[in-house]
Amino acid sequence: MAEFDGILNNVRTWVREIGKYQVENLGKKDLFVETKSTAIDLVTEVDRHSEEYLLEKIKENYPEHQIVSEESGDNRQYESDYCWIIDPLDGTTNYAQGLPIFAISIALAYKKETVLGVVYLPVLDLLFEGIRGNGSYVNGRKLNTGCKSDLRECLLATGFPYDIAETEDNNLDYFSRIAPQARGIRRIGTATYDLANVAAGILDGYWELNLQPWDVAAGILLVEEAGGRVIPLREKRGISLIAGNSCVADLLQREILSADTEKEQAK
Ligand code: IPD
Ligand code: CA
Ligand code: CA
Repeated sequence: MAEFDGILNNVRTWVREIGKYQVENLGKKDLFVETKSTAIDLVTEVDRHSEEYLLEKIKENYPEHQIVSEESGDNRQYESDYCWIIDPLDGTTNYAQGLPIFAISIALAYKKETVLGVVYLPVLDLLFEGIRGNGSYVNGRKLNTGCKSDLRECLLATGFPYDIAETEDNNLDYFSRIAPQARGIRRIGTATYDLANVAAGILDGYWELNLQPWDVAAGILLVEEAGGRVIPLREKRGISLIAGNSCVADLLQREILSADTEKEQAK
């Protein structure tokens, strides 16, 4: 879709610019950190400033577009068919601790379908990008999810929800079922990078419960455009999903459904 090339160029510039600021402030001694939904759900001054920068750029360049953005109470509900979905810093816990694994995630939807996705890792200088129908790329190299079909050869990733201490639907059961069957499981701490790694075939599969649109919008597009599959997992638990190449996504779904059945039978 050539019509989105200009927009993509703008997004590349914005993420590089604000990514530089994030790197400069990584490890800052007196970084201001607050909690949100639970005691382990954090937001820092850097999340907030990064979001302000991105919202300003969008409003300047695309004044009619809607915006859904993680930290902002100022999500605009205009008539436009276009909607930006933004996580200015995905991996806030890593960032607050000084762990250099975090990402900026920007998606653009047209009539509720994501048409463009960018995931940028400022420290690693990895720019993942995709336009619907055009494939997905990292630093110009085309991505492919690969074709593994045996869990024992698969490196997987998952995450645990911020309400892990408050609910049993916290993924620990799925984790302990799947971990012994895989080559390894990572808890990287940024959902958008997990999905980008699935798109790249670096991770073979990923699942997580209770995410938000800004965590996954860009990453889902990257996975789908790299030939992978994304399967919804729950209806009423934020966004809960499995991603992988088609075969691995199916295998993970089977394991998760079996764990659910066993849990029901044990009641
Ligand atoms: C979080 C990260 C993390 C995932 C959490 C997300 P944040 O986003 O993506 O990997 O496990 O559920 O909320 O809070 O760092 O933007
Ligand atoms: Ca996030
Ligand atoms: Ca965030």
